[in-house]
Amino acid sequence: MPLSELLEKLRARPLPKHVALIMDGNGRWAKARGLPRSEGHRQGALAAERLVRFLARERLVPYVTLFAFSTENWSRPREEVEFLFRLLEGLIREKLREFAEAGVRLRLLGDPAPLPARLRAAIEEAEKSTRGNDALHLAVALNFGGRWAVLEGVRRALAQGLAPDELKEETFRGLLPTAELPDPDFIIRTGGHMRLSNFFLWEAAYAELYFTPTLWPDFDEEAFTLALLDFQGRTRNFGRVIT
Ligand code: FPP
Repeated sequence: MPLSELLEKLRARPLPKHVALIMDGNGRWAKARGLPRSEGHRQGALAAERLVRFLARERLVPYVTLFAFSTENWSRPREEVEFLFRLLEGLIREKLREFAEAGVRLRLLGDPAPLPARLRAAIEEAEKSTRGNDALHLAVALNFGGRWAVLEGVRRALAQGLAPDELKEETFRGLLPTAELPDPDFIIRTGGHMRLSNFFLWEAAYAELYFTPTLWPDFDEEAFTLALLDFQGRTRNFGRVIT
């Protein structure tokens, strides 16, 4: 079925509000072609760029989070870590204008302190200049970890001197680094592994999970649309009995 028809089908039913993506498989994509891992990441960045363009244009989902670098990714070879940071910085600098004009609002999700100063500066500039946009809220999870996020919430609660019985679920939700984002309804992981790898933990409580063997550089607009159609076929009961 052509993409236009798939999209038409998709728009006829409720869509998720927040889709989060674990972009896995860049390394294997490159290896399968006898290319260096860096080439896999370069193609992965192109795939992310295409998807953002598509989402800003089609306005299918108002909130999207891309898991770009986890708190565990620091243990990769130094050259790979530096390459990823340079790639991201270049992408933000080159595409900021286009994405800002398309109505994208960019936000960093994660601890910025250990990131290179140049990358931090590019992100801050992008956050500032896209603050008023709302066609697509794009969060880039960078130096992010689900456990880090929960601990941040706990630290903030302690810093505010909250008493144990004052700490309700909603209060705590508002203290998490994701406070401004709705909980993800749908988490997609490419690359064939079926795990969350310390991505959203608290926020993922009722998320529908979708795992595909497709490697991230091959995950295109059609693949994303098919994933959303799969989401629409699911029954979500949030722990209740649906009669
Ligand atoms: C996983 O592939 C990918 C990453 C750790 C980095 C993701 C980064 C990008 C796609 C760059 C662009 C990012 C944005 C936000 C535009 P892997 O190296 O773990 O692959 P493997 O499992 O096959 O080794």
